[in-house]
Amino acid sequence: MSVNRKIQIAPSLLAANFGNLEKDIQMLNESEADFIHLDIMDGVFVPNISFGFPVLEFVNKLSKKSLDAHLMIVDPGKFVNEVKAIGAEIMTVHYEACPHLDRTIHQIKEAGMKAGVSLNPHTPVHLLEEVINDIDLLLIMSVNPGFGNQKFIPYSLDKVRQLKELIVRKGAKTVIEVDGGVNLEIGKLLVDAGADILVAGSFVFKSADPKQTISALKNL
Ligand code: DX5
Ligand code: ZN
Repeated sequence: MSVNRKIQIAPSLLAANFGNLEKDIQMLNESEADFIHLDIMDGVFVPNISFGFPVLEFVNKLSKKSLDAHLMIVDPGKFVNEVKAIGAEIMTVHYEACPHLDRTIHQIKEAGMKAGVSLNPHTPVHLLEEVINDIDLLLIMSVNPGFGNQKFIPYSLDKVRQLKELIVRKGAKTVIEVDGGVNLEIGKLLVDAGADILVAGSFVFKSADPKQTISALKNL
């Protein structure tokens, strides 16, 4: 099945050159990317630490693209104001990190951002049955979060199909984003399964021509 809509692309800054972020953000500004995906890690929820708010303030100043913040941290509800202050359009929290997910979703919306919820690979889609209509974006992790440049987990494709089915059945407006191990071949399968936004880190930044790679993904 081929889909007659343009996929949105969110290159992950985690794979950029941190020694010259300004150059890579400039490249993204000139590209067909729709968002810049920001992977915020705390070394507790995931076994890695990436960057924090002082760095992201600078990213916000340079970026002409919407910011898509993916919080891989415990208790993300504590940081709604900080995420808003770095100019994020979307704040995505992990289902597994939020014992009071309904409250956290509403806090994010009240702060004027789109509320995203992410599922780790092992977390089933059916757990969203009750909250799906309140979620603006659902991020399916197709690798175990914490690191870039990992291999796509094949069963994630079926989770995208299940999620699409849930969204249609519930009449929800939730968009589906997929994150981890995305390349052109996998991207095509994900688009056909119902994905709306693809995150791509190493596939974009390690390619010979990142701008052209973003265009290729955009035209899947
Ligand atoms: C993983 C992050 C991803 C990662 C994707 O914890 O959430 O956004 O940067 O990187 P690639 O595309 O290289 O798998
Ligand atoms: Zn991410």
